[in-house]
Amino acid sequence: MKVPTKDHSLRNLQKGGELCGTVKVPGDKSISHRALLFGAIAKGKTIIEGLLPAEDPLSTAECLRSMGVKISPIRKGDIVEVNGVGLNGLQEPQDILNCGNSGTTMRLIMGLLAGQEGHHFILTGDKSLRSRPMKRVGHPLKMMGAKVSGRCDGDFAPLSITGKKLRGAVIGTPVASAQIKSAILLAALNAEGSTTVIEPARSRDHSERMLKAFGANLVVGGEMGRHITVLPGKDLKGQSIIVPGDISSAAFWLIAGSIIPGSEIVIENVGLNPTRTGILDILKSMDANFNIINKRDVAGEPVGDIEVFYKEQLKPFNLDGEIMPRLVDEIPILAVAACFCNGISKIKGASELRVKETDRLAVMARQLKRMGAKVDEYEDGLTIHGGNHLTGCELDSEDDHRIAMSLAIASILATSNSTLRRSEAASVSYPDFWIDLKRLQQKN
Ligand code: S3P
Repeated sequence: MKVPTKDHSLRNLQKGGELCGTVKVPGDKSISHRALLFGAIAKGKTIIEGLLPAEDPLSTAECLRSMGVKISPIRKGDIVEVNGVGLNGLQEPQDILNCGNSGTTMRLIMGLLAGQEGHHFILTGDKSLRSRPMKRVGHPLKMMGAKVSGRCDGDFAPLSITGKKLRGAVIGTPVASAQIKSAILLAALNAEGSTTVIEPARSRDHSERMLKAFGANLVVGGEMGRHITVLPGKDLKGQSIIVPGDISSAAFWLIAGSIIPGSEIVIENVGLNPTRTGILDILKSMDANFNIINKRDVAGEPVGDIEVFYKEQLKPFNLDGEIMPRLVDEIPILAVAACFCNGISKIKGASELRVKETDRLAVMARQLKRMGAKVDEYEDGLTIHGGNHLTGCELDSEDDHRIAMSLAIASILATSNSTLRRSEAASVSYPDFWIDLKRLQQKN
């Protein structure tokens, strides 16, 4: 599969102009990874509509292909077919598995491979991924009998995994992370005896929903669905999946529509899984003007369209650790929103942001301060003083897709034009972001 070529040019970002029109955000990244992974270990064909044709899911597909899974080309608008090889059918790859920039690929594949007895695997990724913590997955897998090692006592890739017979376990995870949870659930499918994952707070539940649909014996219980039990011994069966649009990509238009004077945007096909809609709760608390229309259910996930209108004098917001798992990827764009609220916004309990594709608290503070924003950075969050003018300047995504798109929205409201280095990072999750932005600007 050819990875889309990157645009390495410095991007000019023009100040001003409202955003108007309709936009259909690309498929949900989390659901796209899972559709490929679960389809690969199911028996029979899985057909996926709306799969996100971006760099991260392409990394997952490439790793699976290296282990003998046939996956049709992943291109915009194409239906993707995965020929599942069954729970024990993955082949030992002849080379290192490259997860690119994708934490979800590496962490979920760790769980998938831990129980592939007799096979050996090496996982690596780009510079950013090689500095992200992996022991949080390796450690619980070891409690099930897995053999995982890597740099810095197994915390950093390249990682080596030797497939072993796993045993079920009861595992409490230290952070609410869907990647850790999903890795354990994948390992549990191949273990001897049942496995229960207990999360400190509920993280996104796409794995639970989709594994059930594939026929896994999985029970969600406990307070707020924080206890998830898998009983092994059931084959997964290939499914037809429709991937809803990614609310984390819609977030850029939700905030842009709310803060850019004169804007009116309809965002179509947005996934509204309640474990992901923290951004809508915060927008409500800001008094933003948006409506959810055409609510429906698509292949086990709630979906709707959202219309959003500019509103003057948005209220500042306070976020803490409790809501964090429901909007963890939206913090960079919420930091931009905070600059234009009427007062001081506080983001707390967000230390997980420090181990994303970049240290997102540090990068957002650094980039917004360049524009003249008043931002105080703390170990676990940011305090942002709204209502100051931002000035255009030389910005840098620092190779992080969500930072690139957040800064693009901030630059529209600056008092002069900006440039953005490494703008191509957006293609990790939203390959058409720059095209959609231009189109919404040209509707004026
Ligand atoms: C994801 C889970 C989240 C999120 C990431 C995708 C997933 O990470 O930030 O973009 O698909 O499971 P954590 O599990 O580390 O919170």
